[in-house]
Amino acid sequence: MSKPEFSLFIFSIVMVMAISGCIGIGIGVNWGTMTTNQLPPDKAVKMLERNGFKKLKLFEYDEGILGALLGSRIEVKLAIPNYMLRKMSRDPSYAAAWVDANVTSYIYDGGVNIKYIAVGNEPFLQSYNSTYSQLVLPAVRNVYAALCRAGLNSRIKVTVPFNADVYNSPTTNPVPSAGDFRPEVRDAVIEIIHFLYINDSPFTVNIYPFLSLSSNDYFPDDFAFFDGTNKPVNDGMLVYTNVFDANFDTLVAALSRAGYADMDIIVGEIGWPTDGKKNANTENAQKFNQGLLKHLLNGNGTPARKGQIDFYMFSLVDENAKSVEPGSFERHWGIFEYDGKPKYNIDLSGSGDDDKRPVPVKEVEYLPKRWCVVNPGLTYADDLADNIDYACRMSDCTALGFGSSCNHLSLQGNASYAFNMYYQIYNQNSWDCDFSGLAIVTEVDPSNGSCLFPVMIACGQSIAQFGGVVESVLGYGWWYLVILVML
Ligand SMILES: *[C@@H]1O[C@H](CO)[C@@H](O)[C@H](O)[C@H]1NC(C)=O
Ligand SMILES: *[C@@H]1O[C@H](CO)[C@@H](O)[C@H](O)[C@H]1NC(C)=O
Ligand SMILES: *[C@@H]1O[C@H](CO)[C@@H](O)[C@H](O)[C@H]1NC(C)=O
Ligand SMILES: *[C@@H]1O[C@H](CO)[C@@H](O)[C@H](O)[C@H]1NC(C)=O
Repeated sequence: MSKPEFSLFIFSIVMVMAISGCIGIGIGVNWGTMTTNQLPPDKAVKMLERNGFKKLKLFEYDEGILGALLGSRIEVKLAIPNYMLRKMSRDPSYAAAWVDANVTSYIYDGGVNIKYIAVGNEPFLQSYNSTYSQLVLPAVRNVYAALCRAGLNSRIKVTVPFNADVYNSPTTNPVPSAGDFRPEVRDAVIEIIHFLYINDSPFTVNIYPFLSLSSNDYFPDDFAFFDGTNKPVNDGMLVYTNVFDANFDTLVAALSRAGYADMDIIVGEIGWPTDGKKNANTENAQKFNQGLLKHLLNGNGTPARKGQIDFYMFSLVDENAKSVEPGSFERHWGIFEYDGKPKYNIDLSGSGDDDKRPVPVKEVEYLPKRWCVVNPGLTYADDLADNIDYACRMSDCTALGFGSSCNHLSLQGNASYAFNMYYQIYNQNSWDCDFSGLAIVTEVDPSNGSCLFPVMIACGQSIAQFGGVVESVLGYGWWYLVILVML
């Protein structure tokens, strides 16, 4: 490279850095850890940095992950799970101890860049029957008081992640500008908003266009995405071409109606699953997420609220131990596979380069290339169904269901899939591939077309009591029907 060429080269680098700096807030992502075999946190954090993720939400304090974030500039939103709300709300010293141990001790030069504490996870969700409604504000106050005592209240903000089901538009006038909070939760939610507002903290909302589409057969496909629609929704002077904008502006209207028109809003979760239900596939996930990034990173905002929108994608990786109460798709929200490989092309800078693929987690160690399958010599076994059932109950067979990637398998294929999932998550112990003598270990990959038979990652600590885990996580993720019906 000659000298002028070299200066030009440096100049372009500086320009690129300056421009990406201006694009400003950067993308956030949720990292849920309900997996049997967790990715090594240090390698996963490097991957986040390489891909330009600027913000990370954790659903609960995790020593390994916070340790891996030491010295990183990634901004962290750390959540307090619903099961802790009762104690947090009643006992200020419990909240103070939590803040001291799990937050304050990470705040130093070279520590962790914790920016938000998220109190609870969608605690007003309709399906929780108000279990947590009265606990949220006292918990928020106690956490805030603890941050004040630690001198951190201007640096770390408290927020509450709400599901979009706390607001809607009346069926008689289903337009965003008619939005308001649901009458049953209105007072409690507004009290929280007031507290957040006077303490300069944002409102966090989780919005799920996938659920709008998948829960309503009449919902128009194109309205779930960002490529325009031939049936836009007109609301006075404003025109809506996608459900995200319509939903977000329903919240804007509800906040204005309550007297908080300029309240900051963070989109705490938004994404699209790749398996486990009709419309849940990589093509749609790619289309939705790429459209979302272009739309949110261009800084134009929504029809009713101009400007940059702060958001966290849902989610980083698949979680094979998450509750499937709302549907099998719950375990397939990852932009990345369980082992940190990207599932599809996506340009995380939002400029829309369709051939761009995110960087995977590097140097992942796998168990040996071995699979557990049904014995091919087997002609008939009346306990096959019971064994499949057992293997699935103790592992993850969500890919076998209707509309999913392994739904085309034969009965033998189903059995092999189930046996292999069990064998892998229990770390390939020889005694875990028996199933009353119906199963054998093979070194030939039994994957069939789109249906992949995984080999598990080696480093993760495997969870022995699968059922127990699923029970304990019911606190997060089961969204219900979200949306204003707007047609
Ligand atoms: C820190 O968070 C963990 C995980 O939620 C919790 O078990 C622990 O009790 C917390 N520490 C304190 C001192 O509250
Ligand atoms: C909420 O109430 C309904 C109907 O009373 C009940 O079926 C459901 O199990 C309850 N859910 C929870 C989380 O308590
Ligand atoms: C593999 O897929 C093909 C095509 O869908 C199907 O006919 C076959 O039964 C599958 N094999 C197994 C073992 O499930
Ligand atoms: C395989 O299992 C799935 C999920 O349980 C089921 O829908 C499908 O019918 C099974 N296939 C066969 C051939 O038994």
